[in-house]
Amino acid sequence: STKYITVDPSHPEPGPLEEGGSVLRRGGLVAFPTETVYGLGANALDGRAVAGIFEAKGRPQDNPLIVHVAGREAVSGLVKKITGAAEALMDAFWPGPLTIILSVGEVVPAQVTAGLDTVAVRMPDHPVALGLIRAAGVPVAAPSANTSGRPSPTTARHVLNDLGGRIDLIIDGGPAGVGVESTVVDLTAPAPLVLRPGGVTLEDLSEVLESVAVDPAARSGSKGRCRPRSPGMKYTHYAPRAPLFLIEGEVKAVAAKIMDLAREYRAQGRRVGVLSYNDKGDFSAAGEVVLAGRRDKPETVAAALYAALRRFDEMEVDVILAEGLTEQGIGLAVMNRLRKAAGGKIIRV
Ligand code: TXA
Ligand code: MG
Repeated sequence: STKYITVDPSHPEPGPLEEGGSVLRRGGLVAFPTETVYGLGANALDGRAVAGIFEAKGRPQDNPLIVHVAGREAVSGLVKKITGAAEALMDAFWPGPLTIILSVGEVVPAQVTAGLDTVAVRMPDHPVALGLIRAAGVPVAAPSANTSGRPSPTTARHVLNDLGGRIDLIIDGGPAGVGVESTVVDLTAPAPLVLRPGGVTLEDLSEVLESVAVDPAARSGSKGRCRPRSPGMKYTHYAPRAPLFLIEGEVKAVAAKIMDLAREYRAQGRRVGVLSYNDKGDFSAAGEVVLAGRRDKPETVAAALYAALRRFDEMEVDVILAEGLTEQGIGLAVMNRLRKAAGGKIIRV
């Protein structure tokens, strides 16, 4: 069975952190809050413990994990070499929602990297995550704490719903703040390459790096034609149970298209869900509306997105019509997740 402990998010009590640390040290699995989403942690230096993460989540074996550290000094033991770009990015964005990929050192087991010669590392900006990693005394490998393919968890409740009974401990430290996962930047490519847009925006990165490119597959959210550099990007992800259609374009044209489609589906007797922003009134005639933040403040959409996608499962709608967003700032990460949730069902108007 899974133990559930609630802690103070900003000043976590030492007892629960010690308990979590000892579970990790003896090879167990602990879910914990970070500033992005909840993570499912195991001792990153223990291949068997890490294998347990894949089993609990039903995660494909070839999708590598991010190693979480509580300080920069822990990075040198995990990688071959810390590059200049890595130094600059850690200075600017750690602790925070940025994951860097470097050549892997010898101590990291193949279960973490899925056999790649690189490793992903990040220092989260959350007192509970940092306290837990320090208490464990080892680096912590952690993917998002959802069942593979489901929307990432932004509350401990989401974790319990997905993984209750399959892991040792859930530490509830309140809702995650950013709401989408960290930005993943590959520093082993000839120039820094964003494999997954996330909490640190492209605009933020451009202020620190001379040049930075975005993997085309990361922008479109598509599977791409060639082998994706970030293995995780090739799987269906973030998906609610009902098929999700993403409608992109100018706001008014998108609204008109959603109303049309909703009418057609309702005529077929299907329950329609609409993912929108700002104001329910606009779509209340179309179906069950879930609002996720404000269109002009993409951070608010990021924070609300995954809980909104999970709401549609509870409502048991048959089809979801989701309004697109502009790709500015964290809007790029939101659109990447929505396109992946749509799995190619994208309508441009
Ligand atoms: O915000 C986050 O990053 C959260 C919290 C818990 O820290 N974690 C997270 O982990 O989102 P996960 O496993 O859901 O996503 C990790 C992503 C995957 O797309 C994976 O393929 C990629 O990082 N990744 C990990 N190691 C990699 C590597 N060596 N090379 C390329 N991509 C890698
Ligand atoms: Mg994930």
